[in-house]
Amino acid sequence: MTLAPARPADLDPRALALAVADTRRAGSLTFLVGGHTLTYRADGDEVLESDVPDGETVVRLEPGAWQDLVAQLRTPINLLLAGSLTFERGGFDQLAAWDRVLRYLHAGFPPYTPRDLQGRDPAATMTLDDSDEELRQQLETVGYLHVRGVFSPEEMAAANAAVDELAAQARPHDDQSWWVGTDDGDKLCRLVYSTLRSAALKAIEQDPRLARLGRLLDSDAVVTADRMEGSAVLIKVPGQTQGLSNIPWHQDCGMGGHAILCPAVSIGIQLTGSTAGSGNLLMVPGSHGQTLPYQWHNRSDVPVVEIDTAIGDVTVHVQDVMHASPKPTGEGGRRTMYVTFYPRTLLDHVGPGEAFNDLVRNRTAEVAGLA
Ligand SMILES: [Fe+2]
Repeated sequence: MTLAPARPADLDPRALALAVADTRRAGSLTFLVGGHTLTYRADGDEVLESDVPDGETVVRLEPGAWQDLVAQLRTPINLLLAGSLTFERGGFDQLAAWDRVLRYLHAGFPPYTPRDLQGRDPAATMTLDDSDEELRQQLETVGYLHVRGVFSPEEMAAANAAVDELAAQARPHDDQSWWVGTDDGDKLCRLVYSTLRSAALKAIEQDPRLARLGRLLDSDAVVTADRMEGSAVLIKVPGQTQGLSNIPWHQDCGMGGHAILCPAVSIGIQLTGSTAGSGNLLMVPGSHGQTLPYQWHNRSDVPVVEIDTAIGDVTVHVQDVMHASPKPTGEGGRRTMYVTFYPRTLLDHVGPGEAFNDLVRNRTAEVAGLA
């Protein structure tokens, strides 16, 4: 028996050559799974496989974890944090450097190249007057949309009042919110499952304008108010913070779950609007469905688009487009309500309280309680 999954039938040697170009410096990589061995070794533009355990990096994992890795259900960082893999030689940096090759060979995800945007402007703004087809093409091509003026200032004022109410009730470790440490004490940075506690926010979650945008790629997609943190409200805290207020570059499936989450579509309702000063969203256009090199953000050849918004605008992004929510350069305070449309089959896999973030949030509370 060989551990190596079948390679994609339509494997493009140029794509493999691009993937392996960043991997070569990491040396060879061996997986030890149960009684089986698989070693990957870069050889020119090719990747050779053998069952000799002579990799410069050697990773041991259980058969179930290996299957999850190959099936794009769990990622290397997920397995590492869960204690589901151990290194007999080498370390995480070497494994992560192989990720582009592994994702291509295991699942056909090509390495990132600046995608042909077919003449589309990645900084374009759309409106609800654009046709579904026009919106869909922009979303499919670029990986995100910026739609202006979806909600009125009055609607956003009502939503902000509802957020004020929930924020006043929120407490650290209440399992309904996320907090960050600052020099002035703990500050609220996210309300989760917000529409289970607020009729006003529930009305926004169920608004037909969002349903239209959220179902551009999948007409059967569902909103999960009681799972996957439901509809959350992000609040950008200014200054130095400890915790998850500023989110570095990521794909929303970066901790795992790509095979069941994607192509979910997240809609960010701009309750306050956003700038670099209040905290905005950064995108790598056309990066969805592709894998960027490990630590790519230290390189200058990847285009980045900064999305500034007005009150009532919405952003729409495919979950595996590369994006970031950086530290506000000024006063902070951006508020964005996120409503996500998932493939209906997600309901078969993730029940209430079973999302990755639920587990992290619950463990944070446990740890705080022990302390
Ligand atoms: Fe995200």
